Amino acid sequence: MSKLLLDRDLIKKYDQPGPRYTSYPPANFFQSGFKVDSFIDLLQQSNQQQPRNLSFYFHVPFCPQLCNFCGCNSELMRDKATTERYFEILKKEFVTVASHLDATRPVSQVHWGGGTPNAVPMHYIADVMELIRTHFAFTPDAEVAMECNPAYMTLEQIDQLAMMGFNRISLGIQDFDLKVLSIIHRKPSKLAIETVVEALHKNKMEVNLDFVYGLPTQTVEKFQSTIDRAISLNPERIVTFSYAHVPWIKSAQKVLEQHVLPSAEEKLSLFHVAYERLTNAGYDAIGLDHFARPHDEMAQALHTRTLHRNFMGYCTRSHSGQVYAFGASSITQLENAYIQNNKNTDAYMEIISQHGVAPEKGYLLTENDKVCRLVIEELMCNQYVDLDQIAVQCGLTYEQLLAITTFSPDSLHQIVHDHLVTWSNHQLTVLPAGRMILRNVAMLFDPLLDNNSTMRYSRTV
Ligand SMILES: C[S@@+](CC[C@H](N)C(=O)[O-])C[C@H]1O[C@@H](n2cnc3c(N)ncnc32)[C@H](O)[C@@H]1O
Ligand code: SF4
Repeated sequence: MSKLLLDRDLIKKYDQPGPRYTSYPPANFFQSGFKVDSFIDLLQQSNQQQPRNLSFYFHVPFCPQLCNFCGCNSELMRDKATTERYFEILKKEFVTVASHLDATRPVSQVHWGGGTPNAVPMHYIADVMELIRTHFAFTPDAEVAMECNPAYMTLEQIDQLAMMGFNRISLGIQDFDLKVLSIIHRKPSKLAIETVVEALHKNKMEVNLDFVYGLPTQTVEKFQSTIDRAISLNPERIVTFSYAHVPWIKSAQKVLEQHVLPSAEEKLSLFHVAYERLTNAGYDAIGLDHFARPHDEMAQALHTRTLHRNFMGYCTRSHSGQVYAFGASSITQLENAYIQNNKNTDAYMEIISQHGVAPEKGYLLTENDKVCRLVIEELMCNQYVDLDQIAVQCGLTYEQLLAITTFSPDSLHQIVHDHLVTWSNHQLTVLPAGRMILRNVAMLFDPLLDNNSTMRYSRTV
């Protein structure tokens, strides 16, 4: 068996619905009815908590055309007046939140996501970026990033982004194959992708390329050419997301069921070819789906086991802070709580115009939740966890840690036997083949997991 590929029986055994653990607890535990006053209290308290640095996330839900595979909070772009109003509201929300934050806290991360933030006129983005700088200072190495759809990218836009201080651009490619793009209702890059990447690099911006595997008509042969073309562009990072099919949440995805969706085994072969091509080309594999050049700080953080993760993806300690999020559906991530804004764009704008903030759902973490979060984050990011070390860090004994996480070493019997992890001296190490079942491993440390409710999640392989 190859170092990565699981055989058919193992896939059958481990492919099951499970959380993606972009947060712990997962977002389906957030409860409705979060009060404005509680949110303000939490914002103020967060000034005394760690990390001290500020991360800002801005969500722009609008897209000129909707892809049917999309799992993000996106909607069709409306008229100019709505975009105008949305950005006025975004600024009002920022000013309200900023008024509760300690102005001496530095900004180490700004991330624009969506939707398609690069499909709106750039002066809207520039206004917000300027507003941030009037309230806070940036750390010298702050990461300023935007998720962009290359179908709407121009050379002029790239220059404007560089002038605003952006230093990392994620380009959503998904696949270079035009047939796949047509099935998912997506336009290819407007300019030759080589021209886009070259212009970004010329402007000193690092480039991430996003791909999705598990889409209809993707084959190992064709996906290999897509990945080879990606490698030839020499981006700093490449991400291969497993297609999350959740038609019960995103009804537009049902259209894809008219085609044949790749089986778990086929998906794994797609991932496998990407993994082989990328690692042979010198990229280091990180977490479930990221690949980075060895000199990249993300790869360095993996080697020193200091990688961690927030809703914006994997990050390194130097760039991440507590995350304050703006825009419809965005999630603020504090040391003690998660707070999600209203998901409906109109309701969000209306509430902000009245109250300045628009929390809708939230979750207050208990001390036990924080312990489980630490273990699960460690596993998901660094594919390794030393339970004795975590117990010391949390002021617990090893036995107390087991009780809180409801983890029993006996539950590892099968995955150790299947050569997916090793377990010795209270240290759990995920082996290369076990990378594909990272989510299953994390589930062993999740006391909130209820077998009856896991069907809400996408499948783990
Ligand atoms: C907000 S989107 C990217 C920005 C931009 N709107 C675009 O499409 O290029 C972020 C990324 O999430 C990934 N994504 C979206 N829906 C997904 C799904 N259902 N399963 C897995 N990945 C998905 C895609 O790779 C996409 O590029
Ligand atoms: S994948 Fe990107 S462009 Fe497509 S609908 Fe989702 S957010 Fe919009």
